[in-house]
Amino acid sequence: MQHYALFGHPVAHSLSPRIHAMFAKQAGVAMEYTAIDAAPDAFADALSAFASNGGNGANVTLPHKAAALALCSDVSARARRCGAVNTLTRIDGDWRGDNTDGAGLVRDLTGREQHDLRERRALLLGAGGAAAGIAPALLDAGIRELVVVNRTPGRADALADALGMPGRVHSRYWNDLRNLGNFDLIVNATSAARSREGLNLPFALAYRNTLAVDLGYGEAAIDFLAWARSAHCADAIDGVGMLVEQAAESFEIWHGVRPQTEPVYATLRSELLHGATD
Ligand code: ATR
Repeated sequence: MQHYALFGHPVAHSLSPRIHAMFAKQAGVAMEYTAIDAAPDAFADALSAFASNGGNGANVTLPHKAAALALCSDVSARARRCGAVNTLTRIDGDWRGDNTDGAGLVRDLTGREQHDLRERRALLLGAGGAAAGIAPALLDAGIRELVVVNRTPGRADALADALGMPGRVHSRYWNDLRNLGNFDLIVNATSAARSREGLNLPFALAYRNTLAVDLGYGEAAIDFLAWARSAHCADAIDGVGMLVEQAAESFEIWHGVRPQTEPVYATLRSELLHGATD
């Protein structure tokens, strides 16, 4: 029996344990996957205790992704570019860190949803951990221009600088949103919904071909997706597909098997539609 866990704070409502249980059943892998709630100052000790008790790997979610990177002795290039780790693998008594969020998002948008990201003009709302986690993968997928806008401008500047492509990546002020023209892709990577604050986005950001994506799902995505529909975006997508795809990528890292994501996605989507989960 192999032991995996998700570390976060909070984690009680996470779908990851169910997703990995479905993958494991599919692949015939004997494993347990639990959710471990650890406050920021307790994360390092909790992870160390997990390793001592035979933990083989872990996913890491808010607010521990940057802290997880610092606890790794080996980090993949894509995780280093994001400054964040969401997948830990125990190898010879050390943690190897990777980040599957961006690949999960791109696979969801280009594979499941059949959108072409190449040459798109993209707006990234937010410059926190969630935004940093997916920005490099969007650029790798062929986004022509990425405009980063954040409530606190310094963080948008810092993310744009870290991405290191001055010709393709720009930071702009939130107050400038009305003057930026429209975008082919708009990604909401803010946590505004968590504090029930509206983003107050101008409709002029969208046009009939705009793809709007919220990295959250359930209640957290309701307001942004409603805005996207009111703005007549071509498509408005929540983060369920990304969640399943990033989990599949982690599963493959750990078990060497790529699970079929479609049945798992269909199960979760149906539960969300019928209000069985949040
Ligand atoms: P995460 O890892 O989920 O991105 P984070 O690092 O706390 O979490 O970042 C949250 C993001 O949501 C930030 O970009 C934050 O903007 P600030 O840097 O100005 O805090 C953004 N955010 C949160 N509430 C917001 C709101 N009401 N309006 C706009 N942006 C908001």
